[in-house]
Amino acid sequence: MKQANRERGCVIWFTGLSGSGKTTIARELENQLLAAGVPVEILDGDIVRENLSKGLGFSKEDRDTNVRRIAFVAHLLQRNGAFVITAAISPYRNIRQEARTMAKDFVEVYAAASLETCEKRDVKGLYAKARAGEIKEFTGVSDPYEAPEAPEVTCYTADETVEESAQKVIDKLVELKYLEA
Ligand code: ADX
Repeated sequence: MKQANRERGCVIWFTGLSGSGKTTIARELENQLLAAGVPVEILDGDIVRENLSKGLGFSKEDRDTNVRRIAFVAHLLQRNGAFVITAAISPYRNIRQEARTMAKDFVEVYAAASLETCEKRDVKGLYAKARAGEIKEFTGVSDPYEAPEAPEVTCYTADETVEESAQKVIDKLVELKYLEA
């Protein structure tokens, strides 16, 4: 597998609930792309919020600002030929659409896992805190999540292995001619 055109990058935009598997699949995908010599960057929600979006909270306005910043940086990298993987909840459909328009080369990946599954995993212990009222505006519990209506890829993370989910994304990137098999 290799990049089809060194000047043609793309934005691989993950969306999904906290704990749905966005970061895990993103890392697997990153490793596979790097192994194939493809230039890759990850913009992960948790990391972006420590620097680029430090100080932002979780109101709709702040989430939209966060997502716009991610989309802006993703676009800058992508237009220089990089494959940019973003992994933020990005709960609002409208702003994801805005990100799609900005990037043009945009592949939306829905990390689909039910709230029940994510809550059972509770990797960071945040669902328990949200249920206890210690965290307000928590996505899926006390704040909305708008699932994508027509994502390029849907990864059913309760039923697929990480490798299977990453492979689905790669297959789509080949189909869309960002990669050559
Ligand atoms: S987004 O909505 O702006 O796209 P982002 O992915 O950057 O969210 O950040 C979500 C991460 O912040 C979660 O994985 C979790 O670790 C943490 N977090 C803290 N408070 C909240 C909250 N109220 N809702 C969602 N995630 C939260």
